[in-house]
Amino acid sequence: DKEHTLVLIKPDAYERGLTGEILRRIEVKGYRLKGLKVKKASRELLTAHYVEHKDQPFFPALLDYMSSGPLVAVVVEGDRVIEGFRTMMGQTNPTLAAPGTIRGDLGRDWKTPAVQNVVHGSDSPTSADREIALWFPELVFKD
Ligand code: CMP
Repeated sequence: DKEHTLVLIKPDAYERGLTGEILRRIEVKGYRLKGLKVKKASRELLTAHYVEHKDQPFFPALLDYMSSGPLVAVVVEGDRVIEGFRTMMGQTNPTLAAPGTIRGDLGRDWKTPAVQNVVHGSDSPTSADREIALWFPELVFKD
């Protein structure tokens, strides 16, 4: 089934010049880029995006990390892309993420104090719809 997911290329990855490598992996997998922007995210936007983590001890550090510099937000389309991109990302902790995954191949550190793990991908269709509306309010899908 055709789905859409929200991918964030996080500030650490943007700063390290990994944007092209990550977009290449998405495209060669057969997914399509439907929206793309470089953006310095506000704390308001990040608070809305990460609302389910707002009571976590790492939440302030997560906001500092995600607002530390520009990031790249991408809407990606494809068959079962939500689950497929999560497989491509690998586990949250880059040290445990399998080689071959984006985090396993490109991620470096575990606690720093927010986990700097290169990419974000929506975790469910409900999250994807909510996150795409937050990051791309202007985007209208025609086909
Ligand atoms: P993400 O998939 O974007 O969702 C929440 C983010 O919080 C996660 O990636 C990491 O960057 C960070 N994170 C998750 N768990 C922890 C943790 N235990 N300690 C610090 N940061 C975390």
